[in-house]
Amino acid sequence: MDSQTLMMLSEKFVANTYARYPIVPVKGQGTRLWDKEGREYLDFVAGLAVCNLGHCHPKVVKAIQDQAERLIHVSNFYYIEPQIQLASLLCQHSFADKVFFCNSGAEANEGALKLARKFAKEKIGEDRYEVITMERSFHGRTLATLTATAQEKYHKGYAPLMPGFKYVPFDDLEAVTKAIDSRTCAIMLEPIQGEGGVNIPSEGYLKALREICNQKRILLIFDEVQVGMGRTGKLFAYEHEGVEPDLMTLAKSLAGGVPIGALLIKKGIAESFVPGDHASTFGGNPLATFAGVAALTTILEEGILENCQEVGAYFLARLRDLKEKFPFVKKVRGRGLILGMELKGEGAAIVREMLRRRILINCTMGNVLRFLPPLIVTKEEVDRVVTTLEEVFHGVKF
Ligand SMILES: Cc1ncc(COP(=O)(O)O)c(C=O)c1O
Repeated sequence: MDSQTLMMLSEKFVANTYARYPIVPVKGQGTRLWDKEGREYLDFVAGLAVCNLGHCHPKVVKAIQDQAERLIHVSNFYYIEPQIQLASLLCQHSFADKVFFCNSGAEANEGALKLARKFAKEKIGEDRYEVITMERSFHGRTLATLTATAQEKYHKGYAPLMPGFKYVPFDDLEAVTKAIDSRTCAIMLEPIQGEGGVNIPSEGYLKALREICNQKRILLIFDEVQVGMGRTGKLFAYEHEGVEPDLMTLAKSLAGGVPIGALLIKKGIAESFVPGDHASTFGGNPLATFAGVAALTTILEEGILENCQEVGAYFLARLRDLKEKFPFVKKVRGRGLILGMELKGEGAAIVREMLRRRILINCTMGNVLRFLPPLIVTKEEVDRVVTTLEEVFHGVKF
């Protein structure tokens, strides 16, 4: 079936929740994708920060194949070997002592919100249930995580939202301090905001939040769904400032492209979940967690973080050079291989023109070009993207 027919059938049978670009990728390898007609694309979206190891990394493919032959699924009524392996590895390489597995970022955040409420009610006070989140945040599309997401455009049409949330501007300590009251049980944020425009807080902000949380007996929750698993050049973004959360959520690239979510929990809090409190049929499923073991060990053992740091710094410098040449570029920011370029106008036409030139990039918040290449990307590939972007920029009129 050709692309045109597939797109027509998609319009007919698939729910209309996504504005899609007119290509049908059918094959991926490393940083490349091929569409149904065999056209090759350089992919700087990486499934929205999912394919950190590139498409179809051989170790992830092998793990999926091997596990699929052994055991695809079994209930959490029983002990699951790869789940235990992945949980141990995550605890070994993070602040956490325990892991709850689920299937997506939103679900991991749901788990964090439920645990924060349960812990606070049990250990701090019956009326401690409110969570403070940040403007421009993104935490998911379920009703609770949608409410946690402090962006009105995602709330439209879904009222009444969940009670128990309060919003403050990101990177504003005074606002957060003022918002805390006797009901606050947690502060939840992305250490670097992704969907909100690649926003990096000032140095010391996360540390100060940690101190406030300690003083007021409030839990600190980091949503590392987008920036975890090496995306910023360290395994977890919180490591840059050495500030440990109490709870942290992961998803996206954790299993190299297989759907998964995880809630990482510190000792002393984890005990608030007991059998029956929270669950997921597929959570920690053998196939997903064995893929996760392969993805995580590959990140740790194959120089992925080093490449991310080196190529990320190079990419950032090249984008900053571009900013000097084009006055409509307002700001360039990023860490590792999550990079944003804020424009004075809308970025959609630029993304479309890049696609026409067989390069996939993304735009968020309407005017921030976002670059999320696989962490195995090379400087030559960055050069190709920057050169093409420069050509496209010459035709831009804001
Ligand atoms: C920071 C963050 N949290 C949560 C989510 C939601 O994840 P999912 O789409 O897997 O539910 C996303 C998705 O983009 C995200 O970027």
